Order: sequence, then C-alpha cells, then structure tokens
Amino acid sequence: MTQKISLTRYLVEQQRSEGHIPSQLRLLLEVVARACKSISQAVNKGALGGVLGGAETENVQGEMQKKLDIIANEVLIEANEWGGHLAAMASEEMEGIYVVPNRYPQGEYLLLFDPLDGSSNIDVNVSIGTIFSVLRKPEGAGVSEQDFLQAGHKQVAAGYCVYGPQTTLVLTVGDGVAMFTLDREQGSFILTQENVQVPEDTQEFAINMSNMRHWDTPVQRYIDECLQGTDGPRGKNFNMRWIASMVADVHRILTRGGVFMYPWDKREPGKPGKLRLMYEANPMSWLIEQAGGAATNGKQRIMDIEPGKLHERVSVVLGSKNEVDRVTRYHLEA
Ligand code: AHG
Ligand code: MN
Ligand code: MN
Repeated sequence: MTQKISLTRYLVEQQRSEGHIPSQLRLLLEVVARACKSISQAVNKGALGGVLGGAETENVQGEMQKKLDIIANEVLIEANEWGGHLAAMASEEMEGIYVVPNRYPQGEYLLLFDPLDGSSNIDVNVSIGTIFSVLRKPEGAGVSEQDFLQAGHKQVAAGYCVYGPQTTLVLTVGDGVAMFTLDREQGSFILTQENVQVPEDTQEFAINMSNMRHWDTPVQRYIDECLQGTDGPRGKNFNMRWIASMVADVHRILTRGGVFMYPWDKREPGKPGKLRLMYEANPMSWLIEQAGGAATNGKQRIMDIEPGKLHERVSVVLGSKNEVDRVTRYHLEA
C-alpha cells in the first residue's frame, strides 16, 4: 500500500527539498488548515449546531451577514493571532485590518481571507468554502492597511477549503496545485491530488445567466456563441453550471476544466465587479494559473492589478486558458 501523505508532511517536504516555504509560512498554513477543520465541523453540524440563518448585521460591503460568516471569521482570527507568524489579517467581513495584539509576537506575514464564501448556499446545504491569500509584510516598523495593497503576483501562498460532500483543501505555494481531502477519522488533511492541471479547452461555462441583459457586449457575444452550440461559430455544444459559491465553481474547474465569469454589469456601473480582488480573485487566479489556466478582468491579468483599496472589487474571467484568452480578446477588440 502506498503511504499516505499528510498536509504536515507535504509542507515539511516543500520546506526541505523545494525551499518554497520558510518555517513561519509552514506554521501559518498549518494553522489555516486547522481553522478550516474547525469551520468544517461547524458547517457539518448545521441546524444541530445552531449555525444556520442570518446574523442581522451588515458587513462593510453592505451585505447582510450570516451567522457562519461571523463564526468562520472568528475561528480564523483566534487560530492565527497567537502563533507569532503574522503581523496582521484582513477579511471580507471586517472593515479595517486586524493587527496582531501586542501580547503576541509579530511575524512577517499578512493573511487575507474570505472566511465563508457562498453565503447564500449555507442554509440550503450546498457547497461553501473559505478562501485565503498570504502576502509578505513589506520591510519597516509597524503594519498598516497600505502594506496589504500588493498585486496578486506577490502572493506567497494561496488556497481554499471547500466544504462539500468532502472537505477538500487546495493549496499553492508557487510549486503547482495540490489537493488534500480531510480524513475525519484521523483528523488530518491527506494529499489526494498533486500537480493539478486545468485542460486548455472546455465546453462548460459558469456565469449567472439571470444578469444577461446587464452584461457588456463582449460577454454577451461570448455566451451567445456558446449557446448557439453546433449551429454557431464555435461548432460545438456547451454545458452550463452555476453553483453561486465561487469556491465550488473554481473547484469544479480545477477538477475538469471550464470557464468562470463574474463580469462587470450595468446593475451597479460604478463598481468594477461583484467579487473582491484581495480575498477572492487574487488567490483563485494564482491557483488557476499554477494549474495551467488563465485569469483576467476581461482586459488584463488579474494578478497584475495594483490594488487601490482593501475591499476593491474586480471583474473576473478565469479557467481553461483558450476560453479565457477568447473572452479577453473579445473585450480588447470591442
Ligand atoms: P460571498 O458569499 O463571500 O459574499 O461570495 C459570494 C460570491 C461568489 O462566491 C459567487 O460566485 C457569487 O457571489 C454569486 O453571486 P450571485 O448570487 O450574484 O450569483
Ligand atoms: Mn466570497
Ligand atoms: Mn464571504
């Protein structure tokens, strides 16, 4: 029988042979994984754990928070604040950054997260997840919000945990993408796929079709051509999936290919898009690129965007390389 490789062992080997991760970063990733395990437990209990339903509070983006948004946020903070590996954290659910309190040692990393992605799916028992991104704190004393405003290509680790039929942690430290499945009996994440690759071509797209009339012309054109199937210019039929949890849609794409889009639309023309650059788009873009896919905002590589603010939003097109290139070309031609 081949030996099972735990997340701990994978990280130790990354540190030892590949030199990708210093020990502080290894500790950080272990702690994030532990927090995800704990969130997974809460998610699993559902109604029995009293975790379903709304919290009757609003986050900084004006979205109503669910109880689990707040629970997951607290779990991540409590797990990460004392280890000495972090200087500060930023979350989709908190207005400002969370600086590690003085009573703990300060580390050199910054952790950003979407504690609970796919909030509208919590109460209906559909896959949800946690997305995270790690940056190095720039040199200098103290830590400020400005320190977080780094482009996606500066990430040193990124990943997500999807709470679905299985709990799966997906990670990159810049050496490809690895997937770990939670073994509940052992209480540890076990490596179940390495060197994940997104096929360059696909016949599956993911977009919220109910927004069709609000889209921009290049997006209308792309989807319209997909819908024409074998009768249209693409000469092949397309399938559609939309889970409404980015984590679950991206997980499907990493597993079997596809293209995911949450484009700018005319409902809120002043906003570049719905999804958040720092907590959703950047980490997912890096995972997708590390698996051979591509990620743009329709015009430019997402990971090259210089963020102007912490809660910045962005238009997202990511997945199978040839389809992302096509959507991007349609934007540039328009
Ligand atoms: P969150 O639950 O963190 O606010 O994120 C939800 C996001 C993303 O996961 C998903 O792709 C998208 O919102 C779904 O939006 P629609 O409900 O507009 O389809
Ligand atoms: Mn989200
Ligand atoms: Mn969220």
